[in-house]
Amino acid sequence: MSKRAPFVIANWKLNGGIDLTCTSVASMLNKQFEVKIGIAPPYVYIGDMVSFLRNSNIMVGSQNVSKFASGAYTGETSAQMLTEVGCQFCLIGHSERRQVFLENDHSCHTKLEKALANNLMPILCIGENLQQYELGLTNDILYRQLHQALPGLDLNGKELCIAYEPVWAIGTGKAASTEQVEAVHSFIYQELVEILGVEKANRVHVLYGGSVSKNNVAELLSTPHVNGVLVGGASLDPEHFSEICTIA
Ligand code: G3P
Repeated sequence: MSKRAPFVIANWKLNGGIDLTCTSVASMLNKQFEVKIGIAPPYVYIGDMVSFLRNSNIMVGSQNVSKFASGAYTGETSAQMLTEVGCQFCLIGHSERRQVFLENDHSCHTKLEKALANNLMPILCIGENLQQYELGLTNDILYRQLHQALPGLDLNGKELCIAYEPVWAIGTGKAASTEQVEAVHSFIYQELVEILGVEKANRVHVLYGGSVSKNNVAELLSTPHVNGVLVGGASLDPEHFSEICTIA
């Protein structure tokens, strides 16, 4: 795959507030970045962030999306609603949602369908946990996650991102080595070709997530088959996130 403008996506998780929304926006506006930036704050700050960033090309996204379109599903937010308030992308199947909220590959597939049908660019998160990693099961886990979530999606004219986030690298300060990332991303690309065909696989952006910081972002982004990064903790410090975007 050829190198394209990389994606740098912030996932605030259950952090931040109106203050962080304002300071983040202030640190990003009036700067020129050569990357495609996205920020996924908690749902309640999406509307404010969309209006603050109206005149920028920074994308605002959500950390989740409902697998339902509407109805008696208390606490859910649909893809259509997210598009309506100005979201451009959504995370799907983050490992914390899989672990804590018991999401599975089947619900990820349904969420991908809903996002794509409503013009939200999905970022499907995949990755193995520490035990699976130590048992050498990384490729098996990724194979299952990709082959159960992706087949049958209508990707015509749509953008799709995959974020490889080894669970053992999330929030630990220990990112995967570039050798590991290169091997895994190459495997992911190979599976994308098998599932989607070469032409569509070449259009998918495959991001890396897990302890990304200003110290490792350049090396990660120079790794073959890495088309961007998904940033957690470091995105909660507006200056740090802005530095990551500049370096990227
Ligand atoms: O989605 C991003 C995240 O899971 C990585 O978190 O804190 O290791 O950058 P962090």
